[in-house]
Amino acid sequence: MSRDDLCTEEEITTLVHGFYDRVRADAMLGPVFDAHIDDWDRHLAIMVRFWSSLLLGSGTYSGTPMPKHVALPGLNAQMFQQWLALFHDTTQELPNRPFAERAEEFAQRIARSLWFGYQMNHEPNRMPTEILHG
Ligand code: HEM
Repeated sequence: MSRDDLCTEEEITTLVHGFYDRVRADAMLGPVFDAHIDDWDRHLAIMVRFWSSLLLGSGTYSGTPMPKHVALPGLNAQMFQQWLALFHDTTQELPNRPFAERAEEFAQRIARSLWFGYQMNHEPNRMPTEILHG
C-alpha cells in the first residue's frame, strides 16, 4: 500500500474535527486551547494540513510546533496524557484501522517529543519525565 492510499483528506478532516470537538469540551484542556486560539477555523485548517503532511506526505504543512508549545504556560504531563486519551477515543471510532493506528503512532511519538522539549526549555536542570499512560 503506498502512502497516499492510507486515507483520504476527508478522513483526516473527520479525525481532526472529531478530536478538537472533544478537546474543546474537556474540563482540563478546553480552557487551555480557548485561551490561546481565537480563530478555530484557522486552527482546524492548520491541523488538517499537519496530519495530511504526516500521513499522506502532502507537504501542505510548514509550521514549527515545538516553539508554539514551549510558549504555552503551565503545560504538564497530565495534560499530554489527557490529550493522548482524547486522541485515542477519537481514533477508536475510525473504521479505517491502518489509518487509525498510524495516526495513533504519530500522536504518541510527537506528544512525547513535545513534552520532552517543553521540559528541557522550562526546567533545564531537572530530568525530564515521561507522559504516564493511565
Ligand atoms: C497538552 C497537550 C497540548 C496542548 C495543550 C496543545 C495546545 C496547542 C495550542 C494552544 C496551539 C495553538 C498555538 C498557537 O497558535 O500559538 C497548538 C498548536 C498546535 N499543536 Fe498542540 N497542544 C498539545 C499537544 C499537541 C500534540 C501532541 C500535537 C501533535 C501530535 C500537537 C500539534 C500541534 C500543531 C501541529 C499545532 C499548530 C502549530 C502551528 O501553528 O503551526 N499539539 N497546540
